[in-house]
Amino acid sequence: MDERGDDDGQRHFHAPLAQADAAVARLLALESRRLVGRLELGASENYVSLAQQQASASALGNVTVEGYPGARFLGTSPYVDALEQLAIERACRVFGARHANVQPHSGTQANQAVFMAVLRPGDCVLAMGLADGGHFSHGDPATLSGQRYRAVHYGVRADGFIDEDELQALARQHRPRLIVAGGSAYPRAIDFARLAAIAREVGARLMADIAHVAGLVAAGLFPNPLPHADAVTTTTYKNLRGVRGGLVLTMDDALARRVDEALCPTLQGTPILGLVAGKAVALGEALTPAYADYHRRVLANARALAAALQAQGLHVQTGGTDVPFAVVDVRPLGLDGRRAAACLDACGIGANAVPLPGDADFARASGLRLGTSAVTTRGFGAVDCAQAAAWVAAALQPGSDHAHIAEAVAARVRQLPFYADPERDPVHHPIRPAAAALSRPTDPPRR
Ligand SMILES: Cc1ncc(COP(=O)(O)O)c(C=O)c1O
Repeated sequence: MDERGDDDGQRHFHAPLAQADAAVARLLALESRRLVGRLELGASENYVSLAQQQASASALGNVTVEGYPGARFLGTSPYVDALEQLAIERACRVFGARHANVQPHSGTQANQAVFMAVLRPGDCVLAMGLADGGHFSHGDPATLSGQRYRAVHYGVRADGFIDEDELQALARQHRPRLIVAGGSAYPRAIDFARLAAIAREVGARLMADIAHVAGLVAAGLFPNPLPHADAVTTTTYKNLRGVRGGLVLTMDDALARRVDEALCPTLQGTPILGLVAGKAVALGEALTPAYADYHRRVLANARALAAALQAQGLHVQTGGTDVPFAVVDVRPLGLDGRRAAACLDACGIGANAVPLPGDADFARASGLRLGTSAVTTRGFGAVDCAQAAAWVAAALQPGSDHAHIAEAVAARVRQLPFYADPERDPVHHPIRPAAAALSRPTDPPRR
């Protein structure tokens, strides 16, 4: 005990991370440095604001509740209820929905909640196939969605656009109870009205998963699936530029109640309230003019990147993009997506391998997905995108000098906000790498 009545345990309890746990602090600092030290073209990546970081790493991490605002079956707090309600209202305003569930821990759980609300085990769901741009939570046999339900998949035509006639024929043949629109690597706008008409014709519900375009939808730059779709799901990170997690948006009161029940208590217990607070901040940002301006630049950059990649002689799927990424077929270069992503990684460029139509599985991914959400947050413009395309094309050539490209990439990245001077640029620098923490040993703290 010391003179203030603190014993060693109390002092440890109140110590900042760098003092309390040097090993964790050091790894956090290294990851923070890695994140800002590369050119991030991974389409799922982005950087959230300091306000979101503070809201999500707040005292709310100490609160346990279950259920929904005003109807908790475990724990109560008027402030937590008001906060969740604020996130719900903002989500409804951003997307024009009647109901929002802001509790999903992930995009996958948001999708599972809609599947459970609409389908019974064994029911048929019709969704875009994985190799054609869909997501594995849309009925892939490796996931619960493909094991609990009977999934049928539609695809794209030879030109890479959704084959709506095939979709309609499959819907008439299989009479699904749910049709899923949207995916992870489909680079074009979706005609939600046509898909809703097909769903109505066969008595199915329509769900749209807008995880990769949610920010563009919020900014009015990609077709809004509401009110055509019965339910819309999204991740809150990626293009929406929020903290980790998911959202479900619905138009129908009865469906909204079933989604709420499916999520809690069927799929999840207590919400991660820090992330709910972070989502509230992200959705508040999405209502500002600056956010719409950011997304105008994201889309212009994606189109500039796609055009520049083509000018470099690369094969861009569908010849362009309506979304925040372009998809490149790397087979003409004698590569597969994984080897191509590894070449870019060696140059300090982040990108994702994705399967292309005809690929049997992820292991055989023949495509590379290159996105602009993260680099636009860091101030990239069209000229930078043309330069990035030149680096990508050079990195994928046989015998390419990756170390030389990496130097050029690093020199440009060092000029971007979030890097230039982390000490003087705290707002733009997510999780500042503390120089002291980087040099500490990784020994566990002494207790
Ligand atoms: C279209 C789509 N839906 C859902 C998800 C799943 O999100 P999570 O990884 O948060 O479960 C992803 C993630 O990549 C996605 O691309």
